[in-house]
Amino acid sequence: MSTIDSVLTETRVFEPRADFVAQANISGMAGYRALCDEAERDFTGFWARLARENLQWSRPFTRVLDETNPPFYKWFDDGELNVSYNCLDVHLANGNADKTAIIFESDDGSTTRVSYRELLARVCRFANGIKALGYKTGDRAIIYLPMSIEAVVAMQACARLGITHSVVFGGFSAKSLQERIVDVGASLVITADEQMRGGKRIPLKPAVEEAFAMGGCEAVRKVIVYRRTGGDVAWNDGRDVWMHDVERGQPELCEPVQVNAEHPLFVLYTSGSTGKPKGVQHSSAGYLLWALLTVKWTFDLKPDDIYWCTADVGWITGHTYITYGPLAAGATQVVFEGVPTYPDAGRFWELIQKHKVNLFYTAPTAIRSLVKAAEASPPHHPRNYDLSSLRVLGTVGEPINPEAWIWYYNQVGGGRCPVVDTWWQTETGGHMITPLPGVTGLKPGSCTLPLPGIMAAIVDEAGGDVELGKGGFLVIKRPWPSMIRTIWGDPERFKKSYYPEDLGGRYYLAGDGANRDADGYFWIMGRIDDVLNVSGHRLGTMEVESALVAHPLVAEAAVVGRPDDLTGEAVVAFVVLKRARPEGEEGARIARELRDWVAKEIGPIAKPKDIRFGDNLPKTRSGKIMRRLLRVVAKGEEITQDVSTLENPAILEQLGKSL
Ligand code: WT7
Repeated sequence: MSTIDSVLTETRVFEPRADFVAQANISGMAGYRALCDEAERDFTGFWARLARENLQWSRPFTRVLDETNPPFYKWFDDGELNVSYNCLDVHLANGNADKTAIIFESDDGSTTRVSYRELLARVCRFANGIKALGYKTGDRAIIYLPMSIEAVVAMQACARLGITHSVVFGGFSAKSLQERIVDVGASLVITADEQMRGGKRIPLKPAVEEAFAMGGCEAVRKVIVYRRTGGDVAWNDGRDVWMHDVERGQPELCEPVQVNAEHPLFVLYTSGSTGKPKGVQHSSAGYLLWALLTVKWTFDLKPDDIYWCTADVGWITGHTYITYGPLAAGATQVVFEGVPTYPDAGRFWELIQKHKVNLFYTAPTAIRSLVKAAEASPPHHPRNYDLSSLRVLGTVGEPINPEAWIWYYNQVGGGRCPVVDTWWQTETGGHMITPLPGVTGLKPGSCTLPLPGIMAAIVDEAGGDVELGKGGFLVIKRPWPSMIRTIWGDPERFKKSYYPEDLGGRYYLAGDGANRDADGYFWIMGRIDDVLNVSGHRLGTMEVESALVAHPLVAEAAVVGRPDDLTGEAVVAFVVLKRARPEGEEGARIARELRDWVAKEIGPIAKPKDIRFGDNLPKTRSGKIMRRLLRVVAKGEEITQDVSTLENPAILEQLGKSL
C-alpha cells in the first residue's frame, strides 16, 4: 500500500521536449488526438485504414470487425496473409535485405549478427525441414528454447507454415511443460540440449524427457533439438532430431502459407485465478498489426534505430516486442541470452554502450535490482558507461515505483529520454495504456493514457463509469485487433474470465484495479483477483497452493502475496502438515523441501519466499479460509480487522511467527 500511496501523491510532470516532438512518429497532443478522434468517429474505418496501410495481404479483407457472436470477436476475417512474410520478405522487397535484423549477444559476450536476408533464409530452411517431417498448417508445436536466434527462427518458421506455436519459458519445470504439451495437443516439440545463463549450463532436453515420462505426450512425433552447448543428452533415435540436421540441404526459399486473418498464430499460457494456467489464443493479422504499430508508436522507432527489449521469448513481451513487432517494423534489434548481473551488474549498461542502443525496454524488477547493485558496486553504476545513444526508455510488467522511475530517467536516460510505462497483458497482445514519447507529459508511476483506438475505462461492480479520482475495475469497452480470441479449448472460461455478466458481458475485464487522476491519467493499482505479480511474472495463488498440497506431507495450504522491495510481490505460503507442526531446524528443512518441490512443480519463480507452518489455517465457521487476514499476517502487521467470525482466532498468532 505504501507504494500506491507514494505513487498517488506524486505530482511531477515531465513534458516531452520540443525537438523530440518535432521528429516523433506521433507528434504532439494534436497528433495523438487526431488519431483518437478518427477512432471515435469511425471505429472500423480507423482500423481498416491501419490494416491496409501497414500489412501486406495476399487476399485483402472486406469485413473489418465481426461482432455477431460476442465476446468472440473477429477482425479482418475474410482476409488472408502470412505473418512471417510480413516480418521478413517485405524487407527484402524494400531494399533492406542487408540490414541487420538481429544482433545476438550470448551469455559469454560473443556477438552474432544476421541480416534480414540471412534470417529469412534460415527461417525458410527450417520451415522446409519441418515440412519434410510431415508437419503442416493447423498442427501445434511446443517451443522450449533459450533466448537465441534459433528461438526466433523456430517461431517464425511455424508462422510461415501456419503451425500454431506455444512457447514455454525455459525456466518452467518439466511438469509445466508436460501440462502445456497435453493441453495444446502438440505433435512437435522444439528444444535445446542446454541453456547458458550467468555462466552456468542449465539442462533443457532432460526436462522434455521427464515431461514425456509423465505420460500424455503420445501425440508428439518429433523432438527437434538445437545444439547450444554440446552437453550430453539422452537420445531417442526414432523421435529426436538435431535442428541443424532438419535444416541441412533444405532450400532457402519456402513459400509462405497464406492463412486466414483469424488463424491462431500462437497459444501462450498464463496464470489465472484457478490452479490451471490458461492458454491465451492469439490471431494472425490483428495481432501482427498491433505489434507493428505499437513498436512504431510507443518506441518512436526510426529506420536507423538499435532497439533492445530484455524480455524472454517465453513471455508475451518477447513474442510481441522481439519476435513479431520489431521484425515486422524492419528494426535492428539486440537479442540477449544472458542475465543482467553476469559477468557483473554493469552488463545492461555495457551492452547499451557496445551496441549503441537507442530504444531500451525492460522491467521495473530489473531496474530495482540494478539500483541496488549500482549502490553496492559503484563501478557498475550506469554513470560509468556511455549511454548517450539512448533516446527512449520503456518499462513493462508491473507498476513502477516513482523512486525507480526517477533513477531510470536520470541515471540511465540522463534526464533526456522519455520513459514509456506500458500497461498491457498477455491477453491484450500489445500495449494498451502508455505514454507516447513525443506526446505525453510523464508522471512517474502512471501509465498515462490509452493508445488511439483503445477504449479503456474504469467502472464499478455494475459496469457503470466511475468519476475521475475514484478507483474501480479497469475495462476495455470495445474490441481491438490484437485481443485474446479465446482460451484454447475452453471458450466458456474465456467468457467467464474476461466478459463477466455483471458488466453486461460487453466489456473486457482486465483483472486490474485502477484509478484516474484529474488529467484523466490511469494509475494501475494491481490485480483484483487471486493473481500475484512476482518480478513482473504472473502467478496464480491457487496454482502454488495446488503444487504445495500435491506434496505427500502437506494437508492444506494457503498462498498470499506480500509487497516486496525487489520483486514487487513475494509468495508467502501458510502450510498445515499431515503431521505435527514442525519447529526449529526440522521446520527449516521441511520448508526448504517444499520450496524445491514448488520449483519442480511449476518453476523457480513460484518458490515461496516465506513458509509458515500452523496447526490450522484461519477459517470462518463455514470453513472458508480468511485470506484477507493472512495477507496482514504475512506483512507482519497487527490485525485490526474484526476476527469475530473466525472459528479459531488463536491460530493467527501462531502463523505470525517466521521460522
Ligand atoms: C499484468 C499482466 C504485459 C507484459 C508483461 C506482463 C501487470 C503489466 C504493467 C504496468 C502496472 C502492469 C498488470 C497486468 N502490469 N504492465 N505498466 N503497470 N502493472 O504480462 O504476465 O500477462 O501480466 O501485469 O497487473 O494485468 P502478464
